[in-house]
Amino acid sequence: MSQIQEQFSLKSLNTFGIDVTAKYYISVRTKEDFQDLDLSVFDKYLVLGGGSNMLFTSDYEGLIIHNEIKGRQLVEEDDQQVLVVFGAGENWHDTVLWTVEKGWGGLENLSLIPGSVGAAPVQNIGAYGVELKDVCSFVEAIDMDTKEVRRFSNEDCQFDYRDSIFKKVRDKKYFITQVGIRLQKDPKPQISYGGLKALLDEWGAFDPTTKQVSDAVIQIRQSKLPDPSILGNAGSFFKNPIIARTQFEELLKKYPDMVHYPISDQRVKIPAGWLIEQCGWKGRHIGQAGCHDRQALVLVNLGRAEGMEILDLSRQIQGSVESQFGIKLDREVSVF
Ligand code: EPU
Repeated sequence: MSQIQEQFSLKSLNTFGIDVTAKYYISVRTKEDFQDLDLSVFDKYLVLGGGSNMLFTSDYEGLIIHNEIKGRQLVEEDDQQVLVVFGAGENWHDTVLWTVEKGWGGLENLSLIPGSVGAAPVQNIGAYGVELKDVCSFVEAIDMDTKEVRRFSNEDCQFDYRDSIFKKVRDKKYFITQVGIRLQKDPKPQISYGGLKALLDEWGAFDPTTKQVSDAVIQIRQSKLPDPSILGNAGSFFKNPIIARTQFEELLKKYPDMVHYPISDQRVKIPAGWLIEQCGWKGRHIGQAGCHDRQALVLVNLGRAEGMEILDLSRQIQGSVESQFGIKLDREVSVF
């Protein structure tokens, strides 16, 4: 059982690189570590995985529980599929690369997403036409109140766009320990995302391998998205808004070039990056908080930003988008 530490720096534990401390900190490496922890003595607590989807605006006056449960285990195999169970504290991208090396298909489109395995189901991570829900077999988690271990099937997880039961229930309810992922031995790559297909075609990869898809995704991400180890960020700061078709048709009269994706007969998704760019924010900064110059949906720490500076910038961006388009942007990042 690891020890609780006090006044612990969180700077290297959040990808925004915000320099804050936790009053108390513990690293959890096994289920038992967590089950032995008496949470009732703390005013508040927060589970941290890779820290890639959070913004700290002040020191954290409670206990940070750092999920570092490791492990990779092949638990089922047949002619077509494998089921692999990963510890929640495994690094996400290393996990993807490991599956790609094995030649198993399913995670390649999710290459280079910062964060941990345990965070992946919480917000149902997604990129280039694939979401975690497409490959997730189950999530194992400990109920924080009863300390009972519970297994959630894919359906139990209630996955939705950047959403799941783990986000919907009060956020302290479940501590994720393992994620079971089903992968294909004879993969059928998903390359419907325009930019991905175009790059693979350019490489002459008309029937691409899992490795080629992963390499292409990595190249596309590196061309648009800042590397958090160089420029602090948490990926997309906002979700792409989904609006009513009636509102979309009105806006289209004024903005005929508006990028959009139909979701259903009634609803249309608009890329928040496009809206933010139209409002003139792309590449701008206020103090040490910036709006990335290659992808306006990503807010960056230019060096020594305080969390509040980034939050203030995000609020100004939300204000501009709402006044110009009448669309409210919801945050994807959690703020503490
Ligand atoms: N666009 C602009 N200006 C910008 C950014 C985007 O006009 O500055 C327009 C472009 O026309 C582009 C469209 O928006 O065609 C979509 O942009 P992109 O393909 O880069 O994707 P996105 O909708 O901005 C989403 C995810 C990303 C994911 C990509 C690729 C959300 C909130 N974000 O971004 O996920 O990598 O698709 O699938 O859904 C993340 O969640 O942290 C993340 C990076």
